[in-house]
Amino acid sequence: MYRTHDCNSLRKSDIGKQVALAGWVNVTRDHGGVIFIDLRDREGLTQIVFRPEENAQLAKQAHTLRSEDVIQVSGKVAARLPGTENPNLGTGDIEIIPSELKILNRADDLPFPIDAEPHNEDLRMTHRYYDLRRPRFARNLRLRHAVAKATRDYLDSQGFVEVETPILSKSTPEGARDFLVPSRITPGKFYALPQAPQQYKQLLMVAGVERYFQIAKCFRDEDLRADRQPEFTQIDIEASFVTPDNIFAVTEGMLAAIFRATRNIEIKIPFDRVTYREAVDRYGSDKPDRRFEMELVDLGEIFRESGFKVFRSALESGGVVKAINAKRFAGITIGQADELTEIAKLYGAKGLAFIKIENGEWKSPIVKFFSETEKEALQSKLKIEEGDCVFFGADKWEIACEVLGRLRLRIAEMQKFTPVAEIWDFLWVTDFPLFEWSSEENKWNAMHHPFTRPKAEDMPLFSEKKFPEVRAEAYDVVLNGVEIGGGSMRIYEPELQDKMFETLGISPENRQTQFGHLLRALHLGAPPHGGIALGLDRLVMLIAGEQSIRDVIAFPKNNRSVDMMSSSPAEVDPRQLRDLGIRLASNKRDA
Ligand code: AMO
Ligand code: AMP
Repeated sequence: MYRTHDCNSLRKSDIGKQVALAGWVNVTRDHGGVIFIDLRDREGLTQIVFRPEENAQLAKQAHTLRSEDVIQVSGKVAARLPGTENPNLGTGDIEIIPSELKILNRADDLPFPIDAEPHNEDLRMTHRYYDLRRPRFARNLRLRHAVAKATRDYLDSQGFVEVETPILSKSTPEGARDFLVPSRITPGKFYALPQAPQQYKQLLMVAGVERYFQIAKCFRDEDLRADRQPEFTQIDIEASFVTPDNIFAVTEGMLAAIFRATRNIEIKIPFDRVTYREAVDRYGSDKPDRRFEMELVDLGEIFRESGFKVFRSALESGGVVKAINAKRFAGITIGQADELTEIAKLYGAKGLAFIKIENGEWKSPIVKFFSETEKEALQSKLKIEEGDCVFFGADKWEIACEVLGRLRLRIAEMQKFTPVAEIWDFLWVTDFPLFEWSSEENKWNAMHHPFTRPKAEDMPLFSEKKFPEVRAEAYDVVLNGVEIGGGSMRIYEPELQDKMFETLGISPENRQTQFGHLLRALHLGAPPHGGIALGLDRLVMLIAGEQSIRDVIAFPKNNRSVDMMSSSPAEVDPRQLRDLGIRLASNKRDA
């Protein structure tokens, strides 16, 4: 037997007991020949004290120990000397007086000290098995387990059945690039890794499963960010004979169960709902962070006849003039102003006008163009006070909103916004547009995916081909400004699905080769159905208070999609390529 207890279980009441512990040497300290060791396992720390006067041989052996050696210790639980107790440690009242020490394995020089936070993330990831020993990650992995368990328990209680769907599957058009897997048996053909189990879960509805879920791995070859990985996990849900309200209720119940299980708190349900239009109009984002104000204010009324040409002409050409009031931001530095102007330009603005209110004066080159009436109206609409800084966007609605929405978030960061108390602000965003125009491809794309149905009341607009106006029966769930999930009601009528594909510019032939299975299934009695998928990694990240989903994934890729630990992706044996009938373009010349 390696151990009788874990390193976080011995207390005062155990004093005098004979015990065995096993784990890693966290730190060793030598106080005039007396060796103190903090022994660590996944539960915590226990202090072991080797005193030469008690056992010279053991103390000598302990002297050779270094951080991260793996040892087993047998001995007696003793009280710590009065005054040396550690109230911050569960085991802080006791220590172990060892009678036996077994060194199970030695650790070499360490890549970085375990109690430091190295800045080089690639270094951490190269030695991820070591990085994960740190309590923060041990805690995150267990939190993730608790979230998955609460999810399964809750969905099971609601009659949902977990069904696994293929990883070697066929390309699903979720909007990202596919990862392809070449087939050896049929050379020249490829599987695709699923971007989501979207079509399979719909086919399961046709199969009569009625209530499906899966904690599903998804794969998307896209540019990575703090909240995006090339492989990630969804809590994927689909149900038949449901309305959006049913999906909202299941999702809210599930999130409530998750927060109860992991944080022991009751979140407020049902969640608020805003339409896409209102979210973008007020927050400049379809995933509004409502923990702070700084809302976008429409100034169209004020500037319609303005002497300031930039604003007047934006309005005359059908655009908008909007502004945000950044409270107590008149002290904005030149560097900050430059950065915000860069952001505005990045998202399509021609410039960024702003006014600082300092010493009772409005400071900005544009103020001279404003009439007194305009200034008064601005003051009252934006509740302008001493010390404020007001930023303007004059453009097409989409651009002005997006620019001010991005500025709003960046300014909150610059002002080091932190909520006074822990806030869990959940929000449904509904009524997304069905289509978005791709100027790159010069065609309409589905904003969510091609299986999402139009809102019933917008069906006539769809028939009239007024594509930008058609709203989808689609929704996202947002938590503190992060999109944690999205879903929709699906098209179940084969004719409507075909019309959708046609609108997306998919030829009749491609409809059959790419989606024949789905269209045939819809012809065989498909029930009305809909669902949602939540990003499990993002949810766990938020509950853990982490900034990146990499911190809640055991073996993540870096932002170049590389697994630093195993150096993957990697070259393969030429024979493997030959078996697959693949020749690399870069090798062609040599061949
Ligand atoms: P969607 O594409 O919106 O919908 O994805 C659902 C949720 O998955 C999370 N997510 C990601 N998390 C980490 N890394 C990524 N690269 C990544 N991409 C997405 C987000 C997102 O809200 N099949 C549909 C769902 C449906 O219609 O039921 C789908 O996949 O939190
Ligand atoms: P200009 O007349 O181009 O010198 O612009 C006057 C001021 O308005 C400058 O501070 C510009 O940065 C700003 N500005 C220009 N275009 C826009 C716009 N579309 N939205 C907001 N501010 C703008």
